[in-house]
Amino acid sequence: MAIDTVSMDKIVSLCRRRGFVFPSSEIYGGLGSTFDFGHYGVLMKNNIKARWFEAMILERDDIVALDSAVILHPRVWEASGHVEGFTDPLVDCRTCKLRFRADKLKDSQCGRKPSKHPGEIPDCDLTEPRQFNLMFETTVGPVQEAGARAYLRPETAQGIFINFKNVLQLARRRPPFGIAQIGKSFRNEITPGNFLFRVREFEQMEMEFFVPPADAERWYRYWIDERVAWYLRYGLRESRLRVREHGPEERSHYSQGTSDIEYLYPIGWSELEGVANRGDYDLTRHTEFSTTRLEYVGQDGERYVPYVIEPAVSIERIMVALLVDGYDEEVVGERERTVLRLHPKMAPVEAAILPLIAKSEGMVGKARSLYEELRRRHSVEYDDNGAIGRRYRRQDEIGTPWAFTIDEQTLSDDTVTVRDRDSLAQERLPITGVRGWLDDALERDWKTPKAN
Ligand code: GAP
Repeated sequence: MAIDTVSMDKIVSLCRRRGFVFPSSEIYGGLGSTFDFGHYGVLMKNNIKARWFEAMILERDDIVALDSAVILHPRVWEASGHVEGFTDPLVDCRTCKLRFRADKLKDSQCGRKPSKHPGEIPDCDLTEPRQFNLMFETTVGPVQEAGARAYLRPETAQGIFINFKNVLQLARRRPPFGIAQIGKSFRNEITPGNFLFRVREFEQMEMEFFVPPADAERWYRYWIDERVAWYLRYGLRESRLRVREHGPEERSHYSQGTSDIEYLYPIGWSELEGVANRGDYDLTRHTEFSTTRLEYVGQDGERYVPYVIEPAVSIERIMVALLVDGYDEEVVGERERTVLRLHPKMAPVEAAILPLIAKSEGMVGKARSLYEELRRRHSVEYDDNGAIGRRYRRQDEIGTPWAFTIDEQTLSDDTVTVRDRDSLAQERLPITGVRGWLDDALERDWKTPKAN
């Protein structure tokens, strides 16, 4: 029987065991809630970015790419409202010396008695809440003096707004058009946790779509639908996704409307991606603070400040959702296997090339030459280490959708078997047809075999 829900502990342990993700600075005892990505983690992250980039840029004509600096002029963050308002209410416990978000006490554990929330036992001695800015500060230049203070960006979006004029002029765009960016963001979260879900350093994928104000509502709905469709296209189960619209009290200072695309993580329904109608807040504020007019002026003299629709997500949250959705355990022939049922275009390795007998020179030779042929265009892995059953299981655990096995028969008729990760079905095909088979298989629609 396949499993329906998985604990975060199992995901953490698989990521560790198979080298997707390691706790950072481990040999120094670790640094809370920061992570390093190993080989398969990097391959998977690259796939997530590539699929997003395809959907945002390569498959459309109305969005261009940008890669702005991490450290921007400090005035950017005054204009954006982050210096003043990017804060969370913080309380300290004088007894256990832990810090908590005052608005999330019910989601936190008491340092003395983890079955209780902070403030629930007589020992707890909480301070009054005070506002804590989540931006990491640094200094620019060798001297720590006034005026040298800068921030690591807490979102990639502002780098896009301050380049609005460049793109408008140099990429010769007119609304509706978008600017998309992928890059690291940093937030000094008070209570990071739940593995990669809330971390202090993460990689965002944000797209700012500039539209005539009258069309903003339509484009806002459009981008919610587009982004949900993207998650379904890459295999997330529909029953685990929902859209939740923020009430006015929950919205950020810049927002005229925000919806969270939520996923049913092991911690419950939580934000995977946000889609916001930011109105003209950002362009107006940067015009005010920089004195450079950020507006659209048409050839007929039409002039307006575009509204901005923003889908924003981190690779980390997508990665956790894909891993949770794909994780499965089942018994096959009285043996248990753990399998990641990932979309083939998200899986770190697309195919494994396995000689059945590692000591057979003939099999190894053919397997290696197939591997050399495929690796130029595909993410493939050659493995001749250990019994074939163990090699299959290793590939199942990292989510490799197909394995090509070179066996005795290959030596006589140049055919190989291809084993499907999900159905375990095997078919034979000519070794010369493997490349074409793999190209076609990757283009096929994929649906998870897991029940909804
Ligand atoms: N530019 C708008 C913006 O940054 P946000 O809701 O604060 O909005 C957007 O963040 C997305 O970034 C979230 O939906 C989530 O996917 C991701 N994200 C935010 N904080 C994160 C954190 N501490 N760790 C991992 N991902 C985070």
